[in-house]
Amino acid sequence: MSMGKVRKAVIPAAGLGTRFLPATKAMPKEMLPVVDMPAIQYVVEEAVHAGLTDLLMITGRNKRSLEDHFDRTPALERALEEKGDRTRLEAVKHSSELGPIHYVRQGEAKGLGHAVLCARQHVGEEPFAVLLGDDLIDEHDGLLTTMMEVQAKTGGSVIALIEVDPSQISAYGCADVSVVEGEDYVRVNSLVEKPSVDEAPSNLAVIGRYVLHPAVFGVLEKTGPGRGGEIQLTDALQTLATDGEGGGVYGVVFKGRRFDTGDKLSYLKAVITLASERVEFGEELRAWMKAFVN
Ligand code: UTP
Repeated sequence: MSMGKVRKAVIPAAGLGTRFLPATKAMPKEMLPVVDMPAIQYVVEEAVHAGLTDLLMITGRNKRSLEDHFDRTPALERALEEKGDRTRLEAVKHSSELGPIHYVRQGEAKGLGHAVLCARQHVGEEPFAVLLGDDLIDEHDGLLTTMMEVQAKTGGSVIALIEVDPSQISAYGCADVSVVEGEDYVRVNSLVEKPSVDEAPSNLAVIGRYVLHPAVFGVLEKTGPGRGGEIQLTDALQTLATDGEGGGVYGVVFKGRRFDTGDKLSYLKAVITLASERVEFGEELRAWMKAFVN
């Protein structure tokens, strides 16, 4: 079934962020600053730049700061205006002009699959993108745009994959794939969430970008708790891949940069990498790091 252009983005940000405690006790991990912008803003900007005009964020108990960040702040704007601080004023306004963002609460963090299911009513019967709020992807590589093209071509669901060292696969969903003749995407035959090294069918790990067929909602509704007692999106995609329902599942292998800001080490790498590229202080930071390492 061809259902037209993808317009909607679902951004789950309701996880408990236990890997980043205690920082995430009273604040969502998606609000952790990467240099000077919360991680979630990179993700929202990526969606907007890919042409997605309807944004739905799935939030949880600590939603206040997420909503506030993308809202107007008249008092702050006035203060900056009075000071004549144009640069900061523009930065502050920019985050509230990324487009109307809708919010729905997950109520209880029952897993990523459950978070996506919370978007059902808003999304309806059209293909939609999912961008995990703690996964930073270098948008210069145009991953999301490529994935939307593959969705339009196949009519199915599309996931993003990276090659990882086999010893790392147990931290991810893992895909068994086969080549599609003459195409640069792959067919996903099956998926397994966080397999042990021996069970893993490949070293292809699922990362936080999806373009999904709405048939996933019906499947999620029937998907029981899986790994870790959570309703796993991977399990629903496994059903779509093996049943062929909703046009099957395809994969795009991503070769660019990606950081999981919900993981402390990966978060630190994201901060250092992006900071070292800043014109204002990148050069000074790189010089300092060299001296520090020595
Ligand atoms: P993670 O598995 O990384 O999130 O989910 P988590 O459960 O918060 O992480 P830890 O393991 O406890 O540290 C990936 C994405 O899915 C969202 C998260 O907010 C994150 O963006 N998520 C996860 C939800 O929205 N709801 C959930 O129930 C689970």
